[in-house]
Amino acid sequence: MLTKSRATATVSKRPSQRGRQNGREPIPVAVLGATGTVGQRFIQLLEDHPWFYVAEVMASDQSAGRTYTEAVGGRWKLTTRIPESVARLKMRSPGDPLKSPILFSALDASVAGELEERYARAGHLVSSNARNHRLDPLVPLLIPEVNRDHIELLDRQKFGGGGILTNPNCSAIVFVMALAPLHREFGVESLIVTTFQATSGAGYPGVPSLDILGNVIPYIPGEELKMEPETNKILGRLGAKGIDPAGITVSASCHRVPVLDGHIMAMSVKLRRKASLKAVLAALRAFHPLQRMQLPSAPAEPLQIREEDDRPQPRLDVDRASGMGITVGRIRPCPVLDWKFDALGHNTIRGAAGAAILNAELLAHAGRI
Ligand SMILES: NC(=O)c1ccc[n+]([C@@H]2O[C@H](COP(=O)([O-])OP(=O)(O)OC[C@H]3O[C@@H](n4cnc5c(N)ncnc54)[C@H](OP(=O)(O)O)[C@@H]3O)[C@@H](O)[C@H]2O)c1
Repeated sequence: MLTKSRATATVSKRPSQRGRQNGREPIPVAVLGATGTVGQRFIQLLEDHPWFYVAEVMASDQSAGRTYTEAVGGRWKLTTRIPESVARLKMRSPGDPLKSPILFSALDASVAGELEERYARAGHLVSSNARNHRLDPLVPLLIPEVNRDHIELLDRQKFGGGGILTNPNCSAIVFVMALAPLHREFGVESLIVTTFQATSGAGYPGVPSLDILGNVIPYIPGEELKMEPETNKILGRLGAKGIDPAGITVSASCHRVPVLDGHIMAMSVKLRRKASLKAVLAALRAFHPLQRMQLPSAPAEPLQIREEDDRPQPRLDVDRASGMGITVGRIRPCPVLDWKFDALGHNTIRGAAGAAILNAELLAHAGRI
């Protein structure tokens, strides 16, 4: 069982090759759900992280007690090798006491809600990918480039020294990044978005190959309903009772497509204040809100605008900025609303593990870890 004590940074097995970075001691972190599709991305992205190192790993009871390599077995699907510093770590059981101050959660949604709360009560900061707490009024639904002031919600949570913050759904994060500069400059009134989502977004083993190969499935359970509340929470304003929603009407249609990584989406937006193409492009190009903060995972160019008729494309653009960049293209007038365009982002990096790591970097930068 967990005990209610503040988590400390005194985990013994710090990799000896890491020294102080920018005057900081590297911070031990735990990855929950470390064996899954998103969990593996965490392990990969954290391998050479300058501020954090993986000290603890946890997944289900069936993985507990094995080494990470034994537990993940043939399910390791990334092109890089399992980092040596993680390969022999012993898998912890759900609910085991942990020592790392930051826990990255890639837990299945069936267990994430309760486990994340238990760890927050035990004094940990939980940076989660799971949907369970995204819409809780006092849980930040964070995109550091868009709403970093929302981290103040952590101070209103009732978890003792710990807390929970979340990153958005892997499609919402892509289109909200593209909407944010337009909302700031002109106000967004409504959005119609049609997503084409990669198979890795369904986890492993995910959608059966006989269903998805040579096919498109026009339904992802529960997905469309997340888009409107998440958009309005992320773009909303911090108020006395939590987040005052942005008031944007969102109509989403979500499709699973036979692409390995990268969610691409077609968007049409109606603006509150009319804007020319020049003004729309200028707003998107001027979007560099984290430029001076030097967060290790923040892309230098969060939105890249492509002018070719046939971009963005998942195969060509998904890895831009190490998977943390959003690529926008095909910006053109919409005869129904105002402007339409496509946006693309890497679902397990910008839409999941990379996003949660960037969120934790923001907390470390703000002195909250
Ligand atoms: N895939 C994406 O692109 C994506 C993007 C954004 C958010 N997410 C969210 O991230 C989370 C993980 O997604 P995924 O795609 O990585 O799924 P996944 O491949 O199915 O992995 C699920 C993970 O949860 C663990 N788990 C399952 N049951 C458990 C239990 N009872 N107790 C403790 N751990 C348990 C599994 O451990 P074992 O290996 O031991 O079974 C595995 O590590 C989900 O909440 C998902 O909605 C996914």
